[in-house]
Amino acid sequence: MQLRNSNTRWGAVSQFLHWLILGLVLVMAVLGLTMTDLPNGIDKIKTYALHKSIGISVLALMLLRLLWRAFAGPAPTLSGPHWQRRMASLAHGVLYALMLAIPLSGWAFNSAANFALRWFGWFNLPRLVPADPRLKAVFHEAHEWLFWILVAVVVLHAAAALKHHFVDRDGVLMRMLPWFRTKKDET
Ligand code: HEM
Ligand code: HEM
Repeated sequence: MQLRNSNTRWGAVSQFLHWLILGLVLVMAVLGLTMTDLPNGIDKIKTYALHKSIGISVLALMLLRLLWRAFAGPAPTLSGPHWQRRMASLAHGVLYALMLAIPLSGWAFNSAANFALRWFGWFNLPRLVPADPRLKAVFHEAHEWLFWILVAVVVLHAAAALKHHFVDRDGVLMRMLPWFRTKKDET
């Protein structure tokens, strides 16, 4: 198993973080979109706390992912038209930015709303902004809008990956998947 990224494919660490974060974002989307409608009570409080704790974990994993990318380097972009490579890099940059901005806007919203923030009941996290109803409304809107922008960009990003796989029949999707490996990849 190769941990670092090579000239031909993403290494195990980048692959693991990519798919783990996708899984956690799906869980976060379900929690976020359903928890507001729960009847008031202990289950609602617990679900909000879970959403916040997983969200902070996603933020930490994204920072780890960026550190790893800086250390291990990205797998080089594949050949293809210049505009296509530019679009892919742009989409990846936007995805990184959104994946930091969404949890940070949630944390800022929580701070402005004057709610405590405890990570899985272990320790408290500090306030990002002072308690303020106007800031609360701004960060609430931002949290929701950024999420829907993420949905749109991820749909385009996944459609591009599937087009590479099924139409262009190149290795773009496979080099992000752990169980596909060609002889060329071993070198
Ligand atoms: C990857 C990270 C995250 C994702 C994908 C995410 C997604 C969402 C979504 C889809 C909603 C529903 C929005 C709506 O319709 O009102 C939501 C609500 C919420 N999120 Fe997040 N969230 C993330 C991280 C966080 C973090 C880190 C916090 C706080 C520390 C947080 C706090 C909240 C709160 C308090 C609400 C409820 C807002 C309300 O009561 O209307 N989120 N989130
Ligand atoms: C929350 C959802 C997702 C996020 C935030 C995300 C984010 C990213 C980012 C930032 C990169 C670039 C890695 C880098 O340059 O460091 C990437 C690469 C990639 N993603 Fe995603 N992704 C998501 C979902 C998906 C899905 C659903 C698929 C496939 C159906 C997919 C397939 C790929 C592939 C194949 C690559 C490698 C592209 C290449 O080698 O040039 N991603 N993803």
